[in-house]
Amino acid sequence: MAVNMRGKDVISIHDLTREEVEQILDTTHILKMKHKLGELYHPLKGKTLGMIFQKSSTRTRVSFEVGMYQLGGHALFLSANDLQLNRGETIADTARNLSRYLDGIMIRTFSHQDVVDLADYGSVPVINGLTDLLHPCQVLSDLFSIREKKQNLEGLKLAYIGDGNNMAHSLMFGGAKTGMQVVICSPSGFEPDPEITRLSRLDATKTGAAIAIQSDPVEAVKDADIIYTDVWASMGQEEEHAQRLKSFSDYQVNAALMEKAGEDVLVMHCLPAHRGEEITDEVIDGPSSIVFDQAENRLHVQKAIMALIM
Ligand code: CP
Ligand code: NVA
Repeated sequence: MAVNMRGKDVISIHDLTREEVEQILDTTHILKMKHKLGELYHPLKGKTLGMIFQKSSTRTRVSFEVGMYQLGGHALFLSANDLQLNRGETIADTARNLSRYLDGIMIRTFSHQDVVDLADYGSVPVINGLTDLLHPCQVLSDLFSIREKKQNLEGLKLAYIGDGNNMAHSLMFGGAKTGMQVVICSPSGFEPDPEITRLSRLDATKTGAAIAIQSDPVEAVKDADIIYTDVWASMGQEEEHAQRLKSFSDYQVNAALMEKAGEDVLVMHCLPAHRGEEITDEVIDGPSSIVFDQAENRLHVQKAIMALIM
């Protein structure tokens, strides 16, 4: 049965019900088919999405802007550098003002609380386009991409090798909501946030999912259906890059690690990749890799999200 998501924010997968996640994935399938068939579909005609960026982006910016256009609406790129936000106007006032013009706001920023505040003080739906804590749109696209290749999600084992960062956190939430077995494998000191671990385990009890944290990559990829990795130094951590290269040196997804996993394993990366660091060319360009399908599906998933909530 369809769930009415009109007006809802998409800030964390943890805040969505399992039915809402499934509805986003099912709607994505329909919109992707329509697009491939060249069928025009303009449910957001006359509507405008504001896109606030405090960090760089290739995929998120382009896929939201193109997605909004394809849905018949308009997207407005708002660089935080050019907004009064950067000169001290509060998030609350920004939210109150932008809500008078826009029908939805997508924001990519550092502080997760800023996104929560934007949603609390504004009156239009807010979509999280990445914070230091979470990256829900990417993971909804990843769940869709896995389902496309493996037909289902429940029971699949996803081994995430690397930093316990925003991607790890959203994969834990996404896997927990959909009944997956998620193993986060990070070096000591780079494990996921304990509160995210607690909340994802709570969600897991309702779906039969399992969330494990460990530190041995060889052990983690054993029987994995999916191996996932991300950069070792995220946006905002540029100064730690050299130190992180050392801390993560045993956590590269390379041919030797791939040999420890099964033949049908999928390799995933949210991109941008630092080739030669967290993943080798051989693996990211190899037959198991679905990284560009993931990137394409950002478009279709975000169209589904916008069509459902705006
Ligand atoms: N994966 C992702 O969000 O890419 P961008 O940083 O290019 O938007
Ligand atoms: N963890 C990465 C994800 C980029 C899409 C970052 O935050 O930079």
